[in-house]
Amino acid sequence: MSEIRLQMDGKDIVAEEGMTLLEAAQSAGISIPTLCHHEKLEPFGGCRICIVEVDVRGWTSLVVSCVYLVAENLVVRTRSEKVDRIRKTLLELLLASAPDSPQLQELAGEYGADRDRFEKEASFCIHCGLCVRYCAEVKKKNAVGFIDRGIRKEISFIPEIAAKECNSCKECFPLCPTSYLQAAFVLTQALAFPSK
Ligand code: SF4
Ligand code: FES
Repeated sequence: MSEIRLQMDGKDIVAEEGMTLLEAAQSAGISIPTLCHHEKLEPFGGCRICIVEVDVRGWTSLVVSCVYLVAENLVVRTRSEKVDRIRKTLLELLLASAPDSPQLQELAGEYGADRDRFEKEASFCIHCGLCVRYCAEVKKKNAVGFIDRGIRKEISFIPEIAAKECNSCKECFPLCPTSYLQAAFVLTQALAFPSK
């Protein structure tokens, strides 16, 4: 695999061809926040918190670092006024859904996000899909999925599968960026009221 040279936050770094900007940053010790990324899962690009700025042929654009691939001589900024402003707004929107999430609160502190900017619709789930994708891609069980659409979308465990698989697994719970306990509650509900 060939080496790709690029610049990130003013630092010259070397990445392998096919790496994403996020992977290149991680291997160079540069931190980029993520909410829907997991190294064992296919790139998803859902939450957008990992956006960074890149200069391509004299143009600056915003790209999603967990899906955007490294390229020779690319100039990348993982923090800038624009990047920080977008992350702040994203966090404010997500905090309306999951105001008590420690992970979101920590990021909110870092980016100066106001957790009360948007009206709360606390559903706890920010639709990162980590639990659903982990169960499908890593465990190959599909015990948890999404029901409904848009802002009403929520996770749901499929009782017939969950009854057999979830008690001995629960690997998706700690992946949730908002609430381990709420995911556990949804599972308990599915098992207690399978016809709901
Ligand atoms: S329950 Fe948690 S892990 Fe699952 S999609 Fe929602 S926020 Fe993500
Ligand atoms: S971590 Fe990249 S879009 Fe969510």
